[in-house]
Amino acid sequence: MRQEKNRVFRLEDYRPSPFRIPESHLTFELEPDATVVRAKLLFERADDTRADAPLVLDGDELELIEARLDGALLGADAFTAAPDRFELKAPPASGRFTLELVTRIVPSRNTTLMGLYRSGGNYCTQCEAEGFRRITYYLDRPDVLSVYTVRIEAKKSEAPLLLSNGNPVENGDLGGGRHYAVWHDPFPKPSYLFALVAGDLGVVRDRFTTMSGRPVELGIYVEHGKENRAGYAMDALRRSMRWDEEVFGREYDLDVFNIVAVSDFNMGAMENKGLNIFNDKYVLADEETATDTDFANIEAIIAHEYFHNWTGNRITCRDWFQLCLKEGLTVYRDHEFSADQRSRAVERIADVRTLRAHQFPEDQGPLAHPVRPRRYREINNFYTATVYEKGSEVVRMIRTILGPDDFRLGMDLYFARHDGDAATIEDFITVFEEVSGRDLSQFALWYHQAGTPSIAVTSNHDPKRGELVVEIEQSVPPTPGETRKRLMHIPLAFGLVGTDGRDVTYRSAEGATVENGVIHLRKRRHVIRFSGLNERPALSLNRGFSAPVTLTLEQKREDQLFLARNDSDPFSRWQAFTKLVSDALIDGSRRSRGQKPLEWPADLLQLAGDIATDGKLEAAFRALTLSLPSEADIAREIGSNIDPDTVHAARNGLVFAIAQANGERLAPVYDSLADMGPFSPDAASAGRRALRNTLLDYLATLPGGKERAAAHFTSASNMTDRAAGLSVLAHRHSGTEQAEQALEAFEARFGDNPLAMDKWFTIQAMVPGASTVDRVRALTAHPAYSGNNPNRVRALVGSFASGNQTGFHRPDGAGYRLLADVVIDLQQKNPQLAARLATALRSWRSVEPQRQAKAREALLHIAAVENLSTDVRDIVERTLA
Ligand code: ARG
Ligand code: ZN
Repeated sequence: MRQEKNRVFRLEDYRPSPFRIPESHLTFELEPDATVVRAKLLFERADDTRADAPLVLDGDELELIEARLDGALLGADAFTAAPDRFELKAPPASGRFTLELVTRIVPSRNTTLMGLYRSGGNYCTQCEAEGFRRITYYLDRPDVLSVYTVRIEAKKSEAPLLLSNGNPVENGDLGGGRHYAVWHDPFPKPSYLFALVAGDLGVVRDRFTTMSGRPVELGIYVEHGKENRAGYAMDALRRSMRWDEEVFGREYDLDVFNIVAVSDFNMGAMENKGLNIFNDKYVLADEETATDTDFANIEAIIAHEYFHNWTGNRITCRDWFQLCLKEGLTVYRDHEFSADQRSRAVERIADVRTLRAHQFPEDQGPLAHPVRPRRYREINNFYTATVYEKGSEVVRMIRTILGPDDFRLGMDLYFARHDGDAATIEDFITVFEEVSGRDLSQFALWYHQAGTPSIAVTSNHDPKRGELVVEIEQSVPPTPGETRKRLMHIPLAFGLVGTDGRDVTYRSAEGATVENGVIHLRKRRHVIRFSGLNERPALSLNRGFSAPVTLTLEQKREDQLFLARNDSDPFSRWQAFTKLVSDALIDGSRRSRGQKPLEWPADLLQLAGDIATDGKLEAAFRALTLSLPSEADIAREIGSNIDPDTVHAARNGLVFAIAQANGERLAPVYDSLADMGPFSPDAASAGRRALRNTLLDYLATLPGGKERAAAHFTSASNMTDRAAGLSVLAHRHSGTEQAEQALEAFEARFGDNPLAMDKWFTIQAMVPGASTVDRVRALTAHPAYSGNNPNRVRALVGSFASGNQTGFHRPDGAGYRLLADVVIDLQQKNPQLAARLATALRSWRSVEPQRQAKAREALLHIAAVENLSTDVRDIVERTLA
């Protein structure tokens, strides 16, 4: 493990590398227990002012066998080599030399899933962020770009398939049952984009012709026998390639593009040049084993990794502080892709739900950090919702401010100017300033300042003057290390909705820059006068979630109800409805806590029923609207002193009340959506399934509901409906014979399919109530579970800790203890996964005092572990700070 455990890396300490590595020639002699890596690296001194500086290379758990300088064996006094560091004391004065380093690594014992490791009997790699140094000594930093030639040698029977980045050059036999392959990647790249895969895998092939007519061979590699589940991923890949040409003018640049699916992977996937490596969860899908959500995720992640070829690979990051340069931008691009492939409004609602569920609590808790952080102890802990999702929102705001044409010009300039560069956020912002002539310096605070801005709004209509006066005030709450905040430039899209539901036009707007339906807030407080309005319009604000802020809008209830029914912007309709529901649920939680009976506004119950049954609305929109805010969402809105049991009671109460008030209308809609014809994963079909499954959740609370859910489960002809039926049974009718039987039936059918069993684990981990913690503990001993596989751990323990409010927050602290035990067990084996799990405790200060004390105990229990990995220590210490 690394030595300097408490080292903090700071943005202001960035210095260019004193050396370049124009060429890297790697040879791998693959053996599970002792792989030999020969790295022949051509070095050039980049900085003449430090002509006598030694050459220091990064390493991590490496064993050096031999070192040569320009062909000659180096004596022991010429260098020092430790597992985590190699130093060449006196590099040649010419500043140009070849260093050959031979190291030995042990893939079979690599449980961190970083560097070269084994998964399912195959070899694979993960090098981002700092995994390459576990393969060979190197300048393992993103601003050192090199042209790689890679030779792989392995036993033919064990690894008939040998893949690396770039294009295949040659392959052949070595005798003794061994063979080799050589790959060459002509595009200079940083080490984090290196990849190697070797093993025995099945393949699905296709071909793509780029817009300039170049043919590209496509391959998706999966475990033998799973080829027929790779078709959807291939289709998504082809659509992604075409879309990037049409929308961003970006063409693919190698002769081959390969994707490999592996079953042990810490994250979603990795954009290695020409050789993407994926968590198999995001490749494999068919109707029998995958849900519509899985299909949508596959489409999005295939696109994301493919889009990185330009935003990440051709233009990479100068240093890891710039991570959002590639991640925020690429998430923005994959969101746009999904919006174009599916329904834009539905996609936006889903993306905003995700943002609020994951990024908002991060930004409002102890782990808050700017989109571009200024310091880190462990970079792996910064692959966060803030860098990814908020990073994407910032790019979206740039487009909102500039408009589509200037935005595209700016992107074109970015690609033209920085192709081949390791760039910074400043480079990115500059291109948009240049093409638009706008000053984005205040806007840039979105990258530099943490915290979710809040906006408070009141409005008043003066019929005599025909004026609508809107007062808007912004503030940014303090976050760790940033007590004083500066005023932000916030683009708020809006509409003034007239009585017929259409936007009315105003004569003039004074008090802020208002252009193209966007209010630009730049000061603490704006008083904006819209003139020429004789009738009072309803104010529809932050349309499309144009800015990632929390909005407190003093608005008449009749306006909210009106907007929920009539706003021309579907996103705003969803937003208005959700606001009404949230307020009702917060009130319900309060009542439940005070042991008062729950009461619900009749107009809200009516409205929910109207939306459910409105055939003019997209089914997916109705489903999203009716799947009420989660218990975690409500808890976040309440903010402090939360009792999850009362939140649960309130939400259940509202579901039941909506079902009761509308049951007779809902059942026919449910029936009319019954699965018809052959399965198709397209968005419209998925939307109908989503609506039917959402309605089932309501109907299941009514008399006969258990039987309905059981029949739904039994008659399901695809995984979406089957998993939904099982989840409704297990959550609404937990412990009943029907629920238990369904769980058994699912297990009997899918026991040998790990990805399907993940759903079975998750559904059980999410059963509300105090006894689930014991069930989760028991399930860790289930034969289909493995504490070493990230997908299993996340499916069972991860979803319990982040998705089961009543179970995880059990008042006696048993849920927190379970999480702590799992984190402690994992923290040496797989520090990254352990650290990620530990973030489930980040909102511990917002629960009521008794639970808070228990959560703190669990955190301290982890902190007390001797030899705690840097990853986990970093998360736990920041969480407790
Ligand atoms: N760059 C990958 C992506 O597409 C994420 C890889 C992160 N891996 C890690 N070990 N931190 O988003
Ligand atoms: Zn990415």
